[in-house]
Amino acid sequence: MMFLQTRSREQVVLDGTWGFMPDPMGAFGPAKRSRSVFQGLDPVKEDRAVEYDINAMHDIQVPGDWNTQNPEWLNLEEAGWYTLNHTFSETQWSQLQGQRNFLCFESVNYSLRLWINGHEVADTQCPFLPQAFDITEHLKETTLICVRVDARRDAERMPSKVYDWWNYGGIFGSVSICPCPQTVLSDCHFTVEQLDDQGVRGAITVDVDGPCAQGFSVEVSVPELGLSWTGQGTDGVARLAYTIGSDVGVVPWSCENPKLYDYRVTLTTPEGKQDQLDLRVGFRTIECRGKEILLNGESLFLKGIAWHDERFGELGGRTRNREDCAELVSVAKELGANFARLAHYPHSEHTLDLCDELGLLVWDEIPVYWAIEYDTPVTREIGDTMWRQMLLRDRQHPCVLVHAVANETYDAPGKPEFMQGLRQVAQELNPGIPLGAAIAVPFVDGEYTLFDRPDMLVEFSDVIGINEYGGWYSPPLSKMPTARVTGHPDKPTFISEFGASGPSGVHGPADELWNEDNQLEVYKQQFAMFGRCMDSLCGISPWVMKDFRSPLRQNGFQRQFNCKGVVSAVGKQKMTYHFVRDQYAGSGPGLGLAGSEGSSADA
Ligand code: GCU
Repeated sequence: MMFLQTRSREQVVLDGTWGFMPDPMGAFGPAKRSRSVFQGLDPVKEDRAVEYDINAMHDIQVPGDWNTQNPEWLNLEEAGWYTLNHTFSETQWSQLQGQRNFLCFESVNYSLRLWINGHEVADTQCPFLPQAFDITEHLKETTLICVRVDARRDAERMPSKVYDWWNYGGIFGSVSICPCPQTVLSDCHFTVEQLDDQGVRGAITVDVDGPCAQGFSVEVSVPELGLSWTGQGTDGVARLAYTIGSDVGVVPWSCENPKLYDYRVTLTTPEGKQDQLDLRVGFRTIECRGKEILLNGESLFLKGIAWHDERFGELGGRTRNREDCAELVSVAKELGANFARLAHYPHSEHTLDLCDELGLLVWDEIPVYWAIEYDTPVTREIGDTMWRQMLLRDRQHPCVLVHAVANETYDAPGKPEFMQGLRQVAQELNPGIPLGAAIAVPFVDGEYTLFDRPDMLVEFSDVIGINEYGGWYSPPLSKMPTARVTGHPDKPTFISEFGASGPSGVHGPADELWNEDNQLEVYKQQFAMFGRCMDSLCGISPWVMKDFRSPLRQNGFQRQFNCKGVVSAVGKQKMTYHFVRDQYAGSGPGLGLAGSEGSSADA
C-alpha cells in the first residue's frame, strides 16, 4: 500500500451498486474452498458445494457504510464481503493499457483484504484513510474485485473495544482505478517557512515512485502568480526552495480570506516520459508562542465546534460524498466558528477541501482513544500506519492547524515511546504543524487543572485541549458559578470538550437533566466560567455539533444517540445552537467570551 495523490488524475470510478454478503461469524475466506468468495466459483456449475454466490449477493451502494443500508446490518461488525465483476468499456480498457494501474480506496473501516481475479493483493489495517494498490498484473477486460472488510472492535486496535460512537463498517469513500505512468508523481506539497511583509519563503517537496525515481526533473508552476520553479530529484524525492517577493503580492490563506492558488507539478524522466498533478496551495504559517497559537503571525481565539464524520438524518451513517460533508461544514460556518475539531478519527477529505475553501481551521485526529495497548506491536504498527497516511493526506490542506495524537488516554506502558514515534514522523512529513492532545481533566477543589492526574501528554503536546464537563459529569451545575479552569502556563490551551445532553424538543426545569433548558443553562455557566478564565484559554470547542449514534447512550432520553448536539441528528436547531451562534458573533449576552459585550449570567 502506498500514498498516491489522485487529485486531477483521470480515474475509472467504480462507485455505485456492488454485491455484498454479511459474514457475521467471519467464517468465509481462503481457509475453506466452499467459502472462498474471492474465487467467484459458481455454485450451480461446480460439482462440489459452494456456500456463496457472487451472482446472488445483496445490493450495496459504494461508498457508504453497510450499517445504514439494511436494517439487518445495523449491528454487523465481524466482516462483510464486497464483490464487483466489472467489464471495462473499450475506452476504459484503452486508458489502462501500458499503465501502472492502482486500485484506490478513499476510506474503509476497519481492515481491508483485497483480491483481484482470485489473486490476493492486500491485507491492511489503515481505517479511514486513502489506500492505493498496484493491480496491473492481475487486470483483465472483465475483472472480479473482491474486498473483505472487517469492522471488529479489538483491544489491539485503535480505537480499541469501547468508544462513544457507532462502529460503522464498510467502504466509506470512493473506489477507483487510477492509471499512472510507470514512474509516477505520488505526491507534492509546499511548506511555508516565512510569510511576512518581505514575502513568502519555503520549500516544495515532490515525491516520485517507479523505475526513474533515481533521477528525474520537476517543474512547479503557479499561473496566478506567474511563477514557476524547476529542479532535479533523486532517490524518489525532489526539494525545491522557493522565495516569492512581496512585490508579487501573495494573498495569505486565512479564515477571513481562505485564498487558494492552483498549481501544476510536472515530472519528466530522462526518457522524456511525463506525469502531472494539478493541486492547490494556501500560503499560511502556524506558530505556538507561549499560551498563544498564531496564524500568519496573528494570535487566534478558537471559536470551535466538534463533530463526528456522520451525515445528517434519522439513520446516521458515515458521510459518503462532498454533499454530506458540506451539510456539516455549513452548520459550523453558520455558527460563526473558525475552528473544526474533527473527532475522533480522520474524516472524509471532502471536509478538509471544504474547510480549505471556506476558512475553517482543522484539528485532525487519529483514534488513540481511551484504553490503548501501546506496547503491543500490531497496535503500534496500526498507529504508525494511520498517522503516516493522515499526515501525507492532510499536509496538502492549509486548513489543518493541529495534528492530534490522542483523546482522553491514560498513561500506560509504551505510551511515551509510541508518542515519540509520532513526533518523529511528524518532523519528517509535516514539520510545521503543532501536535495536540485532548486531555480529560478532573475537577479538584473548585477548578480544572492539568496537573492533578499524571498524563505524559501534558508535557509532550504543543497544544493542549481540556475535556471538561462542568455541570454535566462533574461538578454538578450548582458548583459552576465559582468554578475555574487553568490552562498550561506556557502552552496554548483550549477547551476541547464541554457540553450536556439536551434531547431535541424536550423542555423542563433548567436544573433537571435531559432537556434543552438544562443544556442551555450548562452552556451559560460554561461561558461564564470561560469569561472568568480568559487569560489562560486560546479557544473553546463545544461537544458537539450534532447528536450522533452511539451504543453507550441507552436511556430513554437518548435511545442510542448521544444527544449533546447543538442540533439534532436531523439538523433541528436547539436553544444552545442560537446561544453559541450569538456568543461567537459577539452579539450574545456576552458571558465573557473574547470579542463579545459585557457579561450577564442570566441571558
Ligand atoms: C468524552 C469523549 C467523547 C464523548 C463525550 C461524551 O469526553 O471524548 O468522545 O462523546 O465525552 O461523554 O459525550
